[in-house]
Amino acid sequence: MSTDILTHTEAGVMTVTLNRVDKKNSITAAMYGAMADALQAAQDDAAVRVVLLQGHETIFSAGNDIGDFLNKPPAGTNSPVFRFLHGIATFTKPLIAAVCGPAVGVGTTMLMHCDLVYAGDNAAFSMPFVNLGLCPEAASSLLVPQMLGYHRAAEALLMGEPFMAEAALEVGLVNRVVPPTEVNNYAQAQARKLAAKPVSSLIETKRLMKKGQAQLVQQQMDEEGASFRRMLGEPAAKEAFTAFMERRKPDFSKV
Ligand code: COA
Repeated sequence: MSTDILTHTEAGVMTVTLNRVDKKNSITAAMYGAMADALQAAQDDAAVRVVLLQGHETIFSAGNDIGDFLNKPPAGTNSPVFRFLHGIATFTKPLIAAVCGPAVGVGTTMLMHCDLVYAGDNAAFSMPFVNLGLCPEAASSLLVPQMLGYHRAAEALLMGEPFMAEAALEVGLVNRVVPPTEVNNYAQAQARKLAAKPVSSLIETKRLMKKGQAQLVQQQMDEEGASFRRMLGEPAAKEAFTAFMERRKPDFSKV
């Protein structure tokens, strides 16, 4: 059995750990599937009151596995990545993330669906979809402008430039910045505090905060998903992925 995703439940908190550090926690279809299944199990299990998503103190996630993009692109709305994205967007219990090091692509966009985000001072957030010949996903084309304001969102999504933990704290993507060695423990302690509260109140409060645009988020995600799947097969993305595998700069002069 793969150990790329680890899950552990204790004191009402299900901890889901990205554990593919040698590949910078890049996420394969199997890992999306395992995370989607974990979220579903957490949703259904009354013993789980809070979910914590975490990586390693050096890396949260390098985003989608680029080899998978080339060889096994997600085919439809039932694919593991879309099941995972739908799962985090509609998860009714509190969801906390602990982020250190690079959080690339979905490594950043998944945070838009978390209720609390704690970061190490080494955290670097980036959404380089354009640099890969792709477009945003996880409703980030809606949620990032709302959170950062349009011009900072354009810098993040059009330029694809990384921004660090302090900038993320300033725009409200992150709740608190702590030393990387302390992030997972700090987030775990916060998760346990939440897990000790009445779960029905947590769920209802989250529902009320999110209901205003739940439908819009779903629509945006569906539209992004259709574009993303189409663009995965187009020349710009093929060139970007091949260049990454060949460790060279992509040449977009003909696309
Ligand atoms: N998909 C597949 N493999 C990946 C990966 C990804 N997204 N990101 C990193 N890896 C692999 C590398 O190929 C390398 O494998 P190898 O040791 O077999 O050669 C290993 O992880 C280490 O990566 P490396 O680039 O050497 O680490 P780094 O510390 O120099 O840089 C990152 C870390 C995250 C900045 C860099 O790996 C990166 O930019 N990755 C791509 C991010 C990306 O574009 N993701 C897609 C977003 S949609």
